[in-house]
Amino acid sequence: MNLFDIKNKVIVITGGGGVLGGEMATYLLANGAFVIILGHRDTTVNSGLEKLKKISDNVSGYVCNALDETSLKEVSDKIIAKHGKIDVLINAAGGNMPGATIGVNQTIFDVNIDDFKKVVDLNLFGSILPAMVFGKEMANNKKGVIINVSSMTAQSAITRVVGYSASKAAIDNFTKWLSVELALKYGEGLRVNAIAPGFFIGNQNRDLLIDKETGNYTDRGDTIIRNTPMKRFGETDELNGTIHYLCADASKFVTGVVLPIDGGFSAFSGV
Ligand SMILES: NC(=O)c1ccc[n+]([C@@H]2O[C@H](COP(=O)([O-])OP(=O)(O)OC[C@H]3O[C@@H](n4cnc5c(N)ncnc54)[C@H](O)[C@@H]3O)[C@@H](O)[C@H]2O)c1
Repeated sequence: MNLFDIKNKVIVITGGGGVLGGEMATYLLANGAFVIILGHRDTTVNSGLEKLKKISDNVSGYVCNALDETSLKEVSDKIIAKHGKIDVLINAAGGNMPGATIGVNQTIFDVNIDDFKKVVDLNLFGSILPAMVFGKEMANNKKGVIINVSSMTAQSAITRVVGYSASKAAIDNFTKWLSVELALKYGEGLRVNAIAPGFFIGNQNRDLLIDKETGNYTDRGDTIIRNTPMKRFGETDELNGTIHYLCADASKFVTGVVLPIDGGFSAFSGV
């Protein structure tokens, strides 16, 4: 028996046209899964699909707002009509907004509370709603895996990113809460876990970590490297092994965990 067999698993990835979701989609598709990418913009979904179709035809994509229950339900019905099941949901849609981040010369008293709320909405409810809609199909089938995307900002305070941190801390708690709820009420076939990526250069943090003018690390980028025992940023394909493990039967007794993929950042005191 191959504990890591993911062939023919039906895997839905919200934000599958983004940097991390796109990397996961590429890997899972290349390893024999049926992949469905969702995104709220047709341009992102279409460009994601174009790249993924070069790997395999076992991919489809839908424009779908992770915050809109009706839109999620419509897509879920289409997936069930086509595949008859949903094996895995990866909640990779998420992000930050400038107003929810404290500027270099600002304090918490300058935060834009509307942006703060939008960031919590996207990261928290943008994972809760897909988990409710796609998770219901999994519950009907008594089998399914949900993977949320947390962050290093959830466990200890990382300066400036207040809204994002609060939303990711809530994701950690929701991951544990939902894992308990689904296992108790629908059995051991339902599992909910999260990954906590360390620092990867992406669209949302590039400007904070790399100086636009010089291309050198910013002071913040330098501080992160100093506090990462492996002394580098992560490469997006370094999430794939953990994602594969969590999707597969290799992890079938694992639920309610948040797995750091961070080059040791969360283990290190800095001293
Ligand atoms: N890049 C990093 O270093 C890093 C580190 C830790 C955690 N994360 C988390 O990983 C996840 C993916 O990050 P990324 O760097 O790939 O970001 P990204 O911006 O490249 O991708 C996010 C995708 O989500 C989509 N999206 C946004 N709002 C949506 C909505 N309402 N409905 C559907 N889709 C929506 C966007 O179109 C985009 O394609 C996020 O939750 C992010 O917080 C990223």
